[in-house]
Amino acid sequence: MKTTIKLALAAFAVSLGTGLSLAAAPAAENWDNHCTKCHGADGKGQTKVGKKLQLKDYTDAKVQTEMKDEEMLKAINEGVFDNKGKEKMKAFKAELSADEIKDLVAYIRKFKA
Ligand code: HEC
Repeated sequence: MKTTIKLALAAFAVSLGTGLSLAAAPAAENWDNHCTKCHGADGKGQTKVGKKLQLKDYTDAKVQTEMKDEEMLKAINEGVFDNKGKEKMKAFKAELSADEIKDLVAYIRKFKA
């Protein structure tokens, strides 16, 4: 069983490396791979990095209401920079397809308690 998982992960890594992966990864997988380090698996942003960056709590209904879909898409596509132009979150449009990014927005919406 463990070996199967390792093999699957290896195949996934290879497909990422070569860019030959045709199937888009599900949002949960992308979230785990690219976003949890800062935003946390639960979307609360209570990770070491997340706390330092004072990330929003995506389970908070008020936070969800204040975030607009377009802003979320823009943040994931183009990254987030502070007012001095320093990168706070990197752009993901080179790594993720437009559909994957759209799915991630929907995924974040589901954190709402
Ligand atoms: C290096 C840490 C880091 C990673 C990794 C990261 N983010 Fe962010 N994210 C941030 C920071 C910092 C902000 C800006 C918060 C602010 O404006 O104060 C942000 C903002 C956002 C926003 C805009 C709404 C908001 O909370 O201000 C969305 C949506 C978002 N991130 C989604 C994602 C997704 C999806 C991924 C994975 C594909 C991801 N982030 C990966 C740090 C990160």
